Amino acid sequence: MRIYRSKRFLQAYLQRLPLENKVGFVPTMGALHEGHLSLVKNAKNTCNTVVASIFVNPTQFDRKEDLDQYPSTLEADLKALQKAGCDVVFIPTVKEMYQNQIVSEVFDFDGLDKVMEGAHRKGHFAGVGTIVKRLFDIVKPHVAIFGEKDFQQLKIIQKMVEKKQIPVKIVGNPIYREADGLAMSSRNVRLTPAHRKAAPLIYQTLQKAQKLFKLHAVKEVENFVIQTFKEQNLLELEYFSIADETTLLPTDKKEKHKKYRGFIAVFAGSVRLIDNIELDY
Ligand code: PAF
Repeated sequence: MRIYRSKRFLQAYLQRLPLENKVGFVPTMGALHEGHLSLVKNAKNTCNTVVASIFVNPTQFDRKEDLDQYPSTLEADLKALQKAGCDVVFIPTVKEMYQNQIVSEVFDFDGLDKVMEGAHRKGHFAGVGTIVKRLFDIVKPHVAIFGEKDFQQLKIIQKMVEKKQIPVKIVGNPIYREADGLAMSSRNVRLTPAHRKAAPLIYQTLQKAQKLFKLHAVKEVENFVIQTFKEQNLLELEYFSIADETTLLPTDKKEKHKKYRGFIAVFAGSVRLIDNIELDY
């Protein structure tokens, strides 16, 4: 597995690959778990060369505490990437990606960034768009793979690629979960034992909401979720939104031929966890 810290050297290597070589790309912020590795394995199944990046992107963090405490496990990440079949890892510095201007570019995501994560994390998606666009410019992948845990991010990247006409196929990978249902996240290692024990309630509640959605009105499902989190005191519900899967706009009714999803964000102490589930009726 090749490791590059400089975009110039990475590009020089990628430019030497045969033209018919298909490049798959998995951008990450490190602290890798099985979910990330499944993205690499997925890329490996359809591409000749798999490139992963590890870069904790400062512009997408709205809380300094979250950025400062973002876990870093580089040595273990490199071992795991090699085992998963990754061919190339790009580990740039902040300077390499931003020079001396650590600011986001301005994007129009047709409103996809105005709800849920976008509404609660100021500037988050402009930061994601900025870094992903720069990484695409460097790696020039044929395919890029993102986890569906960050479903809104996946939609926003699809929108950016469409609007900027970037020639890359964006693929979404299903959410990877721990045995007790908690969605895998790099932030899970920061949970206290008590919060870790409480956290599976998030997915259990989403599963119940999925069942309720089949028979009950949107408002009733939302009230059920709100009430569930009120009845305990370790997890604090930030939002639960039943939204149209295409526009991500919240809905108050179910319309035929539309696809819906339930989106949730919860604070477990100082750790913010998100999850989502498909809803059909
Ligand atoms: O999902 C992530 O880990 C990050 O948002 C990404 C896509 C690597 C951009 O920094």
